[in-house]
Amino acid sequence: MLKVAVVGATGAVGREVVSAIFDLGLPVSDLVLSSSPRSAGSKVFTPMGEVTVVNTELSVLEGVDIAFLAAGSSVSRELAPELAQRGTLVIDNSSAFRMDPEVPLVVPEVNIDAARENRGIVANPNCSTIIAIVAVAPIYSRWGLERMVVSTYQAVSGAGYAAIEALEAESRAVLAGADPEPSVLPIKSADVHHQIAFNVIPHVDSFCDDGYTREEHKMTYEIRKILQDESLSISATTVRVPVFRSHSESINLQTREKATMDEVRDVLASSPGIRLVDDPQKFLYPMPVHVSGKDDVEVGRLREDPSAPNAMWLWVVGDQLRKGAASNAVQIGLALYNDRR
Ligand SMILES: NC(=O)c1ccc[n+]([C@@H]2O[C@H](COP(=O)([O-])OP(=O)(O)OC[C@H]3O[C@@H](n4cnc5c(N)ncnc54)[C@H](OP(=O)(O)O)[C@@H]3O)[C@@H](O)[C@H]2O)c1
Repeated sequence: MLKVAVVGATGAVGREVVSAIFDLGLPVSDLVLSSSPRSAGSKVFTPMGEVTVVNTELSVLEGVDIAFLAAGSSVSRELAPELAQRGTLVIDNSSAFRMDPEVPLVVPEVNIDAARENRGIVANPNCSTIIAIVAVAPIYSRWGLERMVVSTYQAVSGAGYAAIEALEAESRAVLAGADPEPSVLPIKSADVHHQIAFNVIPHVDSFCDDGYTREEHKMTYEIRKILQDESLSISATTVRVPVFRSHSESINLQTREKATMDEVRDVLASSPGIRLVDDPQKFLYPMPVHVSGKDDVEVGRLREDPSAPNAMWLWVVGDQLRKGAASNAVQIGLALYNDRR
């Protein structure tokens, strides 16, 4: 039995980590839930009973076997090295260590062996990266990849709990005939904010000098790191849409070798973490409302792209709070725990 901590337990990801720990059966004897001083003292109901959230300090994380960090990059940078040094396995949801060559970046269906090389910290990839790579990795392994172009349709919960509240408040205001007062998206700490209710914002995370956003770069660099293929051509456009939960992605792939759509369908249907939902004549295709709360990534709208050799389209949808964050992290913890038994 393990002493487990969730840092950022009151946030959008942290709440899901608590659920995933019990849903996936990580054996917990002692659960520490922490937050900033703002939510310290609040109660969280768990299958172990009610747990009081404590302020995040190293002293409350004493003797923890596995710490799931979900409180942002600066908290992770401060806590993770110290916890790792004390013998805690840190599974970090932030972007702080993802591109650190010493830190494995892991999606269990794709590269769980990398997690076994950890030096105390394992990084969970960006949510859009996880959802894309669960679907793309089996195709990459079988036929190779020449190029990948992806456009995302990202739910507001990807920007944290405040963005969920913003979509709700703005929607109510618009429907009541009032002017919404945007204050969270695209970036909470920025001076300029845009309405997300009944709108689409082509801006996730901050812009870089080359015109791409950091979210777009994260997808490119993280997918290359996980597949250990620095030469892979990837280009992304990331977009925020007025959906509460679950990200959708339109993905165009050009494989090295020719694949028929029937072969691709067979490979995807037998790959872990994927549910093929691809019967458009019956109006069956992946959608956020169907995927929310689930751990599998759904793939559909599979079709050849006649505009380029060996090209195809996929429509991929996954719950970014579950598979895109919480369950991916807990799956890693569970796999490493099972190794030690
Ligand atoms: N949302 C997603 O879909 C998603 C997916 C993958 C990865 N991530 C990453 O996961 C992390 C958490 O994101 P989120 O969306 O869950 O954010 P969130 O909803 O804003 O929650 C943030 C959590 O961190 C706590 N916190 C904030 N500042 C803290 C501090 N100085 N010390 C200790 N705790 C602090 C908050 O506590 P209070 O309640 O006290 O404010 C809250 O529990 C981020 O690094 C994010 O990039 C998010």
